[in-house]
Amino acid sequence: AAIEKGNYRHFMQKEIFEQPTVVAQTLRSYLRPGEQRVALPQIDFDISAIDRITIVACGTSYYAGMVAKYWFEQFARVPVDIDYASEFRYREPVLPDGGLALFISQSGETADTLAALRHCRKQGQVIAAVVNVPTSSMAREADLLLPTHAGPEIGVASTKAFTCQLAVLAALAAHFAVKKGLLNHREEAIIVDHLLEAPACLNAALDHDEEIADMAHLIAPARDVLYLGRGADFPLALEGALKLKEISYIHAEGYASGEMKHGPIALIDDKVPVIVLAPSGPLFEKTVSNMQEVQARGGKVVLISDKAGIEQAGEGCMAVIEMPKVHPLIAPLVYAVPVQLLAYHVAVAKGTDVDQPRNLAKSVTVE
Ligand code: G6P
Repeated sequence: AAIEKGNYRHFMQKEIFEQPTVVAQTLRSYLRPGEQRVALPQIDFDISAIDRITIVACGTSYYAGMVAKYWFEQFARVPVDIDYASEFRYREPVLPDGGLALFISQSGETADTLAALRHCRKQGQVIAAVVNVPTSSMAREADLLLPTHAGPEIGVASTKAFTCQLAVLAALAAHFAVKKGLLNHREEAIIVDHLLEAPACLNAALDHDEEIADMAHLIAPARDVLYLGRGADFPLALEGALKLKEISYIHAEGYASGEMKHGPIALIDDKVPVIVLAPSGPLFEKTVSNMQEVQARGGKVVLISDKAGIEQAGEGCMAVIEMPKVHPLIAPLVYAVPVQLLAYHVAVAKGTDVDQPRNLAKSVTVE
């Protein structure tokens, strides 16, 4: 059946709003809520024996992989290498015996990612793939297929596939942690509960749609926009910048907050909006101090944080967007929503072709 936009103006907008439903749908196949356990598809290799993971992907899927690196290392203590597929293919990577190679792709057909997968297969790696299109090449060729259940994604800029990838990767990281003996049943139950809260938190984030549409005019005239985040929210800063440049054609850069003083701070003046992703938590103070360095130079900040964070640091910001208070594990899923909405509304304000941005393809099947 043809996929319709329904009451939405663009597919991208529809797909952003589908996230609570499709993330819940995806989580259902990776969690057993009744038992408060993570439940992965049948795996015929020994996870506890895997001591290195190589993640390979492109575009937005690569950023999901970057978030996963933080999770695998923090929760499961497994070192992770991550590469863009186009780099991985040609850099002659050294792969460990019996390592796990994990590919992330919405389409399952991206040429560089598929070539990297085949390369890893030849090198004797165990191949896992987080893929949205179940009939795709990557889905067929993986030893362990970890499907996302986002449904067809039509907008060229990926949104719901990304949050569903994060949902699968969070469950996978928790599963590794359990198998490595680093999470007992009680701790696993707590993680499962937090993951199950994600759809409601995504809904709460979507409630800010109108407010974000209203602030789009603050960003639309900008020539450059900077996004800052730390820890697992650093990849979200990269994703926010990617979304904005893809569909609004505004130059944007994502930076690790602490790295800003090593370069991008030179760009700051009152014409460069700076979007700061800072959920309250152990890294909050650090990010806020970077934000204050921006403000001291006249930079106009949009702070995305929760109530406590905004109360503490919201003063002096050009705008704030209040997210629900969430566990650090699900913050990257929830904080994806405001950066997607911001990019979307800025693009609408600029009158660009949101679903079919110039020069971009939904699936890049040539090198
Ligand atoms: C293209 C799309 C992006 C996507 C990237 C990777 O650039 O425009 O939205 O993130 O390819 O695609 P994949 O299907 O492998 O996730």
